[in-house]
Amino acid sequence: MVELRKAGPEDRDMLTALLWENEMEYADPVEHYVLAVEGKEIIGCGRSEDYESLVLIRPVVVSQKYRRQGIGRLLLKSIMPVDRPTALVARRESIKFYEALGFSKAEWEIIPTTHQKECALCPHRVECRPQPMIWKFGSGS
Ligand SMILES: CC(C)(COP(=O)(O)OP(=O)(O)OC[C@H]1O[C@@H](n2cnc3c(N)ncnc32)[C@H](O)[C@@H]1OP(=O)(O)O)[C@@H](O)C(=O)NCCC(=O)NCCS
Repeated sequence: MVELRKAGPEDRDMLTALLWENEMEYADPVEHYVLAVEGKEIIGCGRSEDYESLVLIRPVVVSQKYRRQGIGRLLLKSIMPVDRPTALVARRESIKFYEALGFSKAEWEIIPTTHQKECALCPHRVECRPQPMIWKFGSGS
C-alpha cells in the first residue's frame, strides 16, 4: 500500500538516488520533502518552498515503474497550499500532468528570480523545455 509521510535523515540516500534518476538534485533540509513510500521503498517525493504571495513546487517526482497510478497527483495535492497560488517550472511531458491537475502555462515573471536564473544557466535547458505554470487559488483542479 502506498503511504505518504515526511522524510527524515535516514531517507536521504534513497531520496537522493530517486532525484538523480530524474536528473534532479537533492536539497537540504530533508524534512521539507514529503515521500510516497511502499514498504521500505521510496517511490515518489514532493517538496514546496514558501514565498509571500505563492508556493513554489520543487519538484514532484514519481519513480518510473509507479507512474500513471495517481501517486503524482496524491503528492502534489499534499504539498499545495489551500490559500495561495502554486507555481512551478514544468519540464517535458510533466506539462500534461500539471495541466491535468488544473495548472496553466504562465510567464517567467511568476517564478522567483533566483530560480529563473538557475533555469536560464542550466546546461539541460534545451532538452528540458522548461515551462512556468501556475495554479490560481480558487480556479479548481
Ligand atoms: C510528472 C510525474 C510526477 C507524474 O506522476 P504520476 O504519478 O505518473 O502522475 P499521476 O498518475 O498522478 O497522473 C495524474 C494525471 O496526469 C496526467 N499525466 C500524468 N503523466 C502524464 C504523461 N506522461 N502524459 C500525459 N498525461 C499525463 C494524466 O491525466 C493522469 O491521469 P490518468 O493517468 O488518469 O490519465 C512523473 O511523470 C515524473 O516523476 N516525471 C519525471 C519527473 C518530472 O518531470 N517531474 C516534474 C518536474 S517538477
